[in-house]
Amino acid sequence: MQPIGVFDSGVGGLTVLKAIAERLPEEALCYFADTARVPYGPQPAANIIQYSLEITDFLVGQGAKLIVVACNTATAAALHVLRAEWPHLPFVGMEPAVKPAAQATRNGRVGVLATYTTIHSDRYASLMRRFAHGVKVWEDPCIGLVPLIEQGKWADAETAQLLREILSPMMEKGVDTIVLGCTHYPLVEPLIRQIAGADLAIINPAPAVARRVEELLLTHGLQQPDTGSSPLYTFFASGQQSVMEVTINHLFGENYPVTQVNLSNKP
Ligand code: DGL
Repeated sequence: MQPIGVFDSGVGGLTVLKAIAERLPEEALCYFADTARVPYGPQPAANIIQYSLEITDFLVGQGAKLIVVACNTATAAALHVLRAEWPHLPFVGMEPAVKPAAQATRNGRVGVLATYTTIHSDRYASLMRRFAHGVKVWEDPCIGLVPLIEQGKWADAETAQLLREILSPMMEKGVDTIVLGCTHYPLVEPLIRQIAGADLAIINPAPAVARRVEELLLTHGLQQPDTGSSPLYTFFASGQQSVMEVTINHLFGENYPVTQVNLSNKP
């Protein structure tokens, strides 16, 4: 059974993996977290391209039939390079949900939480040009948030304080819709909700990505027939595994082992 390969800089892409598992319960999934080199957000695009090439190569070696770049930052920096390198392999990327947010906002005021690299990418500029007409958008690069989430501090006072600092200026501008433009942030969605209140619309693109994966599997005739048996989920990390195991348990309610792989030692 060929898996769908999914990767991120760390635990964030697990939020996308969960949406894929919910939508496509018969599919085998193989997840790679680059926990040795997270966060990607503050790093130059050239590094992120190199990491994404290495990880895709690894996932292809695991038999992946489709790759989900479950990372907005890696999508912005590297998706075009991956597509050029593997022209016959279907890829699904992630980008901040500017279009759904522009449709959802009632007062035309939107906040985008994403990494520095995503916010300063050509891809993001193009999204803004195409979909943000007549909508005011405030971005924040959420410096320091991904490392806290990588430490499993989804509900700590420190994380709440940082989120208050990020959200307050947006709330003062009156935003009624927030885009989770980094796959790590759904892990702190309960805190965001607590700080910003019940009326805020919070947009997580993971279910739309899972739909896109389903469409591409159908188009390419790659879908796994339902055999009635549970599909295999495998997890790999380039660095620490413990928080990843905790995060998997938190999201899936089950324990899965995470195997450590040193990509730079690959022959
Ligand atoms: N989860 C990632 C994203 O969606 C990247 C976070 C990071 O490594 O900075 O952008």
